[in-house]
Amino acid sequence: MRVCVVGAGGREHALAEVLRRHHDVVVTPGNPGIPGSSSEPATAIDADLYVIGPEAPLVAGLADELRAAGRLVFGPGADGARLEGSKAWMKEVLVDAGVPTARHGTFTAIDPAFAFLDTLDGLYVVKTDGLAAGKGVVVTTSLDEARDAVRDYLSGAAFGDAGRTLVLEEGLTGPELSVLAVCDGQRAVALAPAQDFKRVADGDVGPNTGGMGAYSPVPVADPSVIDVVMRDGVEPTLAALRARGIDYRGVLYAGLMLTPTGPKMLEYNVRFGDPETQVVLPRLTSDLGELLASAAAGALVGAPTFDDGAAVTVVCAAEGYPREVRTGDRIEGLDAARAVPGAMVFCAGVGAGPDGTLVTAGGRVVTVTGMGASLAAARETAYGAVARISWPGMHHRSDIAAAAVLEGAT
Ligand code: AMP
Ligand code: GLY
Repeated sequence: MRVCVVGAGGREHALAEVLRRHHDVVVTPGNPGIPGSSSEPATAIDADLYVIGPEAPLVAGLADELRAAGRLVFGPGADGARLEGSKAWMKEVLVDAGVPTARHGTFTAIDPAFAFLDTLDGLYVVKTDGLAAGKGVVVTTSLDEARDAVRDYLSGAAFGDAGRTLVLEEGLTGPELSVLAVCDGQRAVALAPAQDFKRVADGDVGPNTGGMGAYSPVPVADPSVIDVVMRDGVEPTLAALRARGIDYRGVLYAGLMLTPTGPKMLEYNVRFGDPETQVVLPRLTSDLGELLASAAAGALVGAPTFDDGAAVTVVCAAEGYPREVRTGDRIEGLDAARAVPGAMVFCAGVGAGPDGTLVTAGGRVVTVTGMGASLAAARETAYGAVARISWPGMHHRSDIAAAAVLEGAT
């Protein structure tokens, strides 16, 4: 099969590498660090299957456009992608489907928003309704900070129109879990779970990012937890979408918090997670292309299988990320990192420099995955490979999967 992967990040690089185990792959637009990148748009590329990586083209209706041209597409249409395009609408669907979630409200004016904040219990969450590249969420114990965010969002100063409608919700606590479910419109199968690290710095401090690292499997998420997430979350949500006439074929990414009163859905994304993909897919032992093609055709076949080992991925970011980033710095050491046994390097914010060199071209620059028999071994491999990569201003977290490794040791 010839598969066209749409997107330009580390997630798409990982999708391409894993699909390539069984199929021919072209990536559009990709980037200079992803082999097989093409500058032709997806609509001009002839392929047997199209896999759309990022949310923006899904929300903009690329899957609909390709389907209208008779192509086989893995990724929801604009109707289903609204789950990620509008957090307010997602919450409506969750409530309809009876999925446990945080207490919340949707606001477009300051006074009612402030009044809702006053009903919360000391942990305040402010979210943009619209897309904000993973940066539109403030979680704070400070009422003043929450109020400042409300003002900045509603005025349009922080995120333009994406923030003029906002969702406020109670803060929940507990370990987070990402479950990526492959859906064919009717049925869904879960991929191996992952845990993502959202804050920029060690110890979960600093601003939220698109994700600074991830690991899989997740010791706190035994198979019974995944069954509950599928039964009480993903399946009723698919049914609620169907009831709205939405035939959802793609990844439904469940972002959960394992609270003391059970798993609660924080959010849905309508695509593979980044960087979760970089730990989940390398562990796959079955044919990814076949799985995605069957879901795209509305006839999911078989359950995906995963190796018994573990994967840990570390995002190396450019100076300034997640705020304003400096770009154009020369990236050194990618080949040396790839030479570490068990390591894989995925290119995201990577551009072409002079004389065939690669330079930084975005916030999250490369994602380095280590594979191993245990989380401890995978972690050592990942950090061993990261140590070989450098550019001025590069930063990364040094505690990805550290707590899970410690828990496993006790
Ligand atoms: P979201 O984009 O909705 O996934 O939010 C990004 C991150 O903000 C999540 O991964 C959590 O770390 C945090 N977050 C979102 N909602 C809540 C909540 N209700 N309580 C605590 N943390 C949250
Ligand atoms: N890693 C979080 C996301 O993909 O949204």
